[in-house]
Amino acid sequence: MIKLTHLYRKILKDYQSIHISVDMTCGKGNDTLFLSEISKKVYSFDIQKNAINKAKELTKNKDNIIYICDNHEHILKYIQEKIDVAIYNLGYLPGGNKDIKTTASTTIHSLKSLMTILNDSGIIIIEVYPHNKEESLALDHYITNLDHTFDVLKIDLYNKVNPPYLIVIKKALK
Ligand SMILES: C[S@@+](CC[C@H](N)C(=O)[O-])C[C@H]1O[C@@H](n2cnc3c(N)ncnc32)[C@H](O)[C@@H]1O
Repeated sequence: MIKLTHLYRKILKDYQSIHISVDMTCGKGNDTLFLSEISKKVYSFDIQKNAINKAKELTKNKDNIIYICDNHEHILKYIQEKIDVAIYNLGYLPGGNKDIKTTASTTIHSLKSLMTILNDSGIIIIEVYPHNKEESLALDHYITNLDHTFDVLKIDLYNKVNPPYLIVIKKALK
């Protein structure tokens, strides 16, 4: 199966001059590590301390990452500068407690806050797992209703049953 992670990393590698990026769902830190290689500074959120600890271990040679152990809903409490790139990889920590996961309400609320600090050429990538129906439906509804100042792309595997899919939100060029 096409790896969506590879796909969105390819999309992001084409981006020039990424200053500030955010990993909204740090987990074990794979996306944080990737972002630290293409950005000047990375903010990385997770509500679980053990996830952050794993990510810190993975990225111990990097010095451009700020880890935040809090709900990403509170993003505006921690970030007052413009964001070039943000990634969400929704769901729960692989191998961890499946009850601690992203939800429709926290994801949409954090996304709304994130959009207020997105740079003019900023891009948001969201990997969605449709088995959380409430969350995927809320996201589909939200992106469908974004105004024309945004380009919204949905990348879906049409011939698979309930596959994860990608949402890409980018400010539209004037
Ligand atoms: C699928 S994992 C992310 C995988 C990760 N990006 C990687 O590269 O390894 C989802 C993570 O989101 C975290 N999470 C769930 N709800 C959250 C919230 N409201 N705020 C911040 N992190 C959250 C979970 O604790 C979990 O570690």
